[in-house]
Amino acid sequence: MLLTETRDRILAEVDRYPERRTALLPSLKLAQREVGWLPPEAIAEVADLVGVSHASANELATFYSMLRLQPGGRMRVEVCVQLPCALAGADRLLETLAEGLGIRPGEVTADGAVELIRTSECFGACHRAPMCRLNDEYRENLTPKATRDLIEELRSGADGVAQGNGVAR
Ligand code: FES
Repeated sequence: MLLTETRDRILAEVDRYPERRTALLPSLKLAQREVGWLPPEAIAEVADLVGVSHASANELATFYSMLRLQPGGRMRVEVCVQLPCALAGADRLLETLAEGLGIRPGEVTADGAVELIRTSECFGACHRAPMCRLNDEYRENLTPKATRDLIEELRSGADGVAQGNGVAR
């Protein structure tokens, strides 16, 4: 089910490591990036490409919270609430986003465009807290005004948001 481009990138990952198995996590992330989440067929395909058992790939996919086993919103907004971000106002940021989008953390907007996530996963941008990740792009130093602007962006077309206003990771 994966595109040839994704399959090629996975095979390139496999070539990078002395142990094929080490390529499993980055390969699952590549599959998720293409599909948006990891249906069983995608996990099986990645396992075959990497050369590990389907059971091993399923085990890893279940272990990491960053890997999604169910479809969510097309735009995944993850607000980091680890201590450094919490001290810089992460809870306020999360509340403001939730109010502005009309959903609670863990929910998806009615049109399926945005999913709001509260996460304690540190994204390594603590020095620019509070912050959130929009799919693979970071939005940092989210002041109240920047947060309002972000809500406007998300409401006016989440599918086009992560296209250059933040830091791609
Ligand atoms: S604590 Fe939030 S990015 Fe590190």
